[in-house]
Parts: sequence; C-alpha cells; structure tokens
Amino acid sequence: MRVAIASDHAGFVQKDPLADYLRVKGHEVIDCGPRTDDRCDYPDFADKVARLVACGEADRGVLVCGTGLGIAMTADKVAGVRAVPIQTVDFARLCREHNDANVIGLSGRFVSLEDNEAILDVFLTTEFAGGRHAERVAKMMREDDPEFAGVPLDFGM
Ligand code: RB5
Repeated sequence: MRVAIASDHAGFVQKDPLADYLRVKGHEVIDCGPRTDDRCDYPDFADKVARLVACGEADRGVLVCGTGLGIAMTADKVAGVRAVPIQTVDFARLCREHNDANVIGLSGRFVSLEDNEAILDVFLTTEFAGGRHAERVAKMMREDDPEFAGVPLDFGM
C-alpha cells in the first residue's frame, strides 16, 4: 500500500519511527515532512497528505500531531478525504469497517509509539464493510459534489 505520512513538531517524535515501521511491513511510504521538530503549523503538512490521498497518489494517509485532532480536522476539509483522529485499536477497526476512513490522525503526545503501531496495523489491513455503511458514506460524501456544496438546506420552516 502507498502511505503518505506527515506530522507537526508535536508528532515529529513518532513520524519517522512510524514511517520505518510501515516500510518494514512492506508499505511504500511518501514522507511529506517535516524534516525537523522545529515548531510548525499542522495544516501545512496535513494538506499535503490529504491531497495525495484525494488524487489517488497515496492509498492512505497517516498524520501525527500532539493530539491527532487538528491535523485530522484539516485533512478532512479536502474533498474525497475521510479523516479521523484515532486513539484505540477498536476505533481504528471501526473507522475502516463503518466509515471507510482513508486518513488517520494519531496522537504523538498521549498515545505510545507501540500503541500507534498497533492502531496502524489495523487501520491499514481492515476492509470497508460496505453494504448499509456504503450508503451512509455516500451520503456523507455529498459535500464533495459541487452541486450540493454550499446549498442551504431547506428544513421547510
Ligand atoms: C501543537 O501544540 C498542538 O496544538 C498540535 O500538535 C495538535 O495537537 C493540534 O491539534
């Protein structure tokens, strides 16, 4: 699998070890930075990974910041991306089975490297369950449709 990875300064301590872990597991890793732990803005790096996933140059995206929250929120703004912050193996499995998540936000400050490796194993090997979940994900992704985006909802009031 081609996996794009990036972090901010708070996730940097885990970014390179996780990239190495993925290579050992046989994945092709696209490292989108940063190269040092100098303070930086997570949106700059989340955006690179999200765009690679959205255009199909990467199959999945892995993002690491302090909490996994801001970096996932940013990635999720890119059309075609379904990014989630994940702290447990169970949620990693469910975000794949139910939500077909294609980008994961990991916490470099509150979750250990070993736990994040286990989370990535599950995130990268669990298939989307499809079926009723596919219909829900399709509804979720209507915001990627230019004819739908920005149109005010009519609640009939
Ligand atoms: C950086 O201090 C921190 O805010 C960032 O890494 C991330 O946790 C934001 O969501």
